[in-house]
Amino acid sequence: MTNVRGSGGYERGRSEGFIKGKQDGYAKGFEDAREFLEKPPLHDISLKWRELHCADQFGPHFGSTVVLNDRNMECLKETVKSTIWKLEISAKDQTYPVILKIFKPPMIDQKLVELNMYRRVSSLIPDLMPAIYLVLEGINNDEVWVFMEFVPPIKGQVIFTPDHFDKIIPSLAKLHAQTYNDHFYNKWDIFEDWIPRYDSDSVSAERMKNHKQTIEYLDKAMESPELKEKLRPGYNDLQRILQRGPVYFPELIQAGKSIIHNDLQTPNMGCHNIAEESWNVKFLDWEGAGFSPCWFDMFNLIGVFFAYRKDWRSDENAVIERCAPLYAAEMLKYGITFDTDPVQLYKMAYLQRVLERSLYQQLHWKLDNVKPAFLLECYLEKIKIWGKELRLY
Ligand SMILES: Nc1ncnc2c1ncn2[C@@H]1O[C@H](COP(=O)(O)OP(=O)(O)O)[C@@H](O)[C@H]1O
Ligand SMILES: [Mg+2]
Repeated sequence: MTNVRGSGGYERGRSEGFIKGKQDGYAKGFEDAREFLEKPPLHDISLKWRELHCADQFGPHFGSTVVLNDRNMECLKETVKSTIWKLEISAKDQTYPVILKIFKPPMIDQKLVELNMYRRVSSLIPDLMPAIYLVLEGINNDEVWVFMEFVPPIKGQVIFTPDHFDKIIPSLAKLHAQTYNDHFYNKWDIFEDWIPRYDSDSVSAERMKNHKQTIEYLDKAMESPELKEKLRPGYNDLQRILQRGPVYFPELIQAGKSIIHNDLQTPNMGCHNIAEESWNVKFLDWEGAGFSPCWFDMFNLIGVFFAYRKDWRSDENAVIERCAPLYAAEMLKYGITFDTDPVQLYKMAYLQRVLERSLYQQLHWKLDNVKPAFLLECYLEKIKIWGKELRLY
């Protein structure tokens, strides 16, 4: 009997204990959830910020102690290459947005170029690049974290039209003038071992390789019915033109080389004073930077825009006639003159870039099923018209 009753007490005790345990578990879970909502755990960025005493290193830039606002972080973009965060700090009762660009491994050449631009060149051209507050290496093993000034991108601030080129060209000319020919070579110690130079052995070899491959792609493209239809009318002339490559216009080299940006889309250009008559543009996203003919950036700014924007195409010639001389006039403010007519230099830069790079890219994308080749027809048309005008064929 005792045994039975005893066993009943045990059973009851066990079940009560179970219920109590369950209730406690609920209560604890509830408590945790409430605490989580009120005080979510700190993001890795906040933890690293504390661990590495980042605030101390920001102080000098803001003239006071700074605090990272842990609850105000926005991921703007994430790719396999990098993650871009918009953070917020407080300093002297004001808040400031800050960009954190996290470079993920592997550190391929383009990333090293961009990192070196931030680390070594931003102080040389401070009004043309975001201020760099702090660079941290070896984070989470192999990442590099760059904290920099937030410069509101032009995209998102205006509805961009070709009139806005006039606002960007003065800053672009300033970038080129300040790093033009001897200004670059005088800072050789800064640039020597990492910046791709248009006339270096390695970049020249790459150009030769691409050139050979473009000719091969062109023949391969003629075997595809869809591409053949687009290419056939200009095929013979294009073949003749390509035989003269890969350098088509020595005038471009003679017109001078500068640090060029190479990817001048509106998300990659920032401006703090967009409401003012003249803009102070700062250039973002420097992975394509190199020391190359300065006129190439005019193609990157204007030529690429019109290639994508068919809707503006009827304005293209007028814009070139206005903007190429404007660029030359801006360069003249720094004492730089060109022997060749600016509109001609623009068209040469366009054709050189298309023939040595864009044509190859478009054919590669299409033939190797990477992505569609939307710009091919536009480029072929320019080769036909301007190639004739500039006596390439
Ligand atoms: N310093 C900055 N200030 C403001 N916005 C920035 C800054 N850096 C990057 N961004 C924004 O984040 C986007 C992506 O950054 P970006 O450096 O261009 O990376 P990606 O190499 O992936 O294009 C930019 O297009 C821009 O809108
Ligand atoms: Mg970008």
